[in-house]
Amino acid sequence: MSTRARNFSTRAIHHGYNPMDNEGALTPPLHLTSTFAFDSAEAGGEMFAGERPGHIYSRISNPTLDLLERRIAVLEGAEAGLALASGMGAITAALWTLLASGDEIIVDKTLYGCTFAFMRHGLAKFGITVTHVDLTVPENLTAAMSDRTKVVYFETPANPNMRLVDIAEVSKIAHEGCAKVVVDNTYATPYLTRPIELGADIVVHSATKYLGGHGDVVAGLLVGTTEQVSEIRMVGMKDMTGAVMAPFNAMLILRGLKTLALRMDRHCSNARVVAEMLESSQGVSKVHYPGLKSFAQHELAKRQMPGFGGMIAFELAGGIETGRQLMNRLKMIGRAVSLGDAESLIQHPASMTHSTYTAEERAEYGISDGLIRLSVGLEDIDDILEDLHQGLAANPLRLSA
Ligand SMILES: Cc1ncc(COP(=O)(O)O)c(C=O)c1O
Repeated sequence: MSTRARNFSTRAIHHGYNPMDNEGALTPPLHLTSTFAFDSAEAGGEMFAGERPGHIYSRISNPTLDLLERRIAVLEGAEAGLALASGMGAITAALWTLLASGDEIIVDKTLYGCTFAFMRHGLAKFGITVTHVDLTVPENLTAAMSDRTKVVYFETPANPNMRLVDIAEVSKIAHEGCAKVVVDNTYATPYLTRPIELGADIVVHSATKYLGGHGDVVAGLLVGTTEQVSEIRMVGMKDMTGAVMAPFNAMLILRGLKTLALRMDRHCSNARVVAEMLESSQGVSKVHYPGLKSFAQHELAKRQMPGFGGMIAFELAGGIETGRQLMNRLKMIGRAVSLGDAESLIQHPASMTHSTYTAEERAEYGISDGLIRLSVGLEDIDDILEDLHQGLAANPLRLSA
């Protein structure tokens, strides 16, 4: 285990902040300010010229965000971090910075619905070629790379069908060309996977999910080298999207990070029990969870993730109609999109988060109409199981156990 991994919880609580710098305040101050005063006209000019450090305006930087940026960087094992308004803000700011008209981006076949829409309907509109490749087989990338390929982008585990990508292998192949590797690490979090340590260049997050952890904030983060992050800050964030995080939201994410390790351990243990229960249920035809021996990429999961996370995808033998019936019968588990909250949440990707795909695209990219996505929360496992049992037991295809 690396030093960084061993010290994960300590860094998530303490890194970059000394109460004695703020009159002993144990929690960091919240800097609610849009702009910052300059000591002199010359000092302001030097800051704009990049010759003097300091804050200018909160669409560029802010001390509360600065602490969060340093904290996520150290947790991800990266040089620098950047806080943005949302996960989509992080993804779009990074890609608007890295790509130009005439370039190609290679992306995995399965992506979160709005990321897919941004690629398919956004980037493509500006003369960027978006090529979908099955990155679960890294050799496919070797065949697909061209001189125009500037970015390789994927999620692992992917939303919603849980497929994994071998970060080290894919990064090696991408770097043999001149492509940067951008990984969406929302599902795994740095507690379970640190893509930079495996060779990726940039990691993006919907901090709305596990990093915040309490379903009360929409936020995004990214990490990379100091140079790369500074470019994304000054181009993608400041000028092209304006997708800056509010200081109050940074405070909520800093609070969430303090319990990330604890929460992830509980998400992992609860999800494993739920996945095993679903797999032994007669009415369930398929369970996608990296911790199951039956999971096609279980060996990669064991190599790449010390725990298997809190997300499960599954299909019922009766297809989407029985899936809807199950969702409607649940009493405690919430029918809602988003994920990584304390509350268990269930949703139907084809009609909800992934309705940005056409039916043909979903079929082509491996998102079946019957797939149900479950974010296993932090409730007592017996209560989660009981709710699922009563929901499943009422199905025409009954549970075996
Ligand atoms: C894997 C993944 N990436 C990115 C996003 C976008 O994040 P946000 O909703 O914070 O913009 C989501 C949202 O669900 C997601 O699941």
